[in-house]
Amino acid sequence: MLRIAPSILSADFGRLLEEIRQVEAAGADLVHLDIMDGRFVPNLTFGPPVVRWLRGRVSLPLDAHLMVASPDPLIPDLADAGVARVAVHVETCHHLHRTLASIRDAGMSPGVALNPATPLEAALEASPWIDYILVMSVNPGFGGQTFIPESLDKIRRLVRLAPRDGLEIAVDGGVTALTAPGLVEAGATTLIAGSAIFGASDRAAAVAALRDATTGVDR
Ligand code: DX5
Ligand code: ZN
Repeated sequence: MLRIAPSILSADFGRLLEEIRQVEAAGADLVHLDIMDGRFVPNLTFGPPVVRWLRGRVSLPLDAHLMVASPDPLIPDLADAGVARVAVHVETCHHLHRTLASIRDAGMSPGVALNPATPLEAALEASPWIDYILVMSVNPGFGGQTFIPESLDKIRRLVRLAPRDGLEIAVDGGVTALTAPGLVEAGATTLIAGSAIFGASDRAAAVAALRDATTGVDR
């Protein structure tokens, strides 16, 4: 079953809770949290205090995507703040196995994220220790960028090479009702979308449009 994860990066932060409640009611599966430090990516967002505030107010699982130069120090705080799962970028981890183990040990589900130009190998090597791979289909840091079309072939190769079934493949960046069918056909099992959902005047209709665009599409 395809999962849809709205990214609050493009939400109206003045009405954040209302925004999240709308996508919850529309049948979204996860709330995607883009945590950026202004070092790994040229943008800054929010960290554990904001996530902690969301916990208890939001019923969907909180899905953290760490775009930070040093992910390790954040892991205990994110677990404490109620995050369900955490993807770290392989480009940021000197000791990826240790970082993934610390996410699991803290009671969260670990994933690895790959920049568009990062080869698949690191993620494949880490597959015994993760629950999902997050394929970036734009360069991380900003919402509303243009989808990089080569991401489709990367997802196809990932499906072919993945050493086990059931490894979730999430795609993040430029996901819209136009790009979604091809992504699902290639093998993506989770669609992360920011501007396509929170940039639309009707957020619920935007979630439904993503779902409808991919209904009946098979890998
Ligand atoms: C970008 C973030 C994305 C972002 C996607 O670095 O990781 O989650 O919100 O935005 P859209 O869907 O607008 O490309
Ligand atoms: Zn993201």
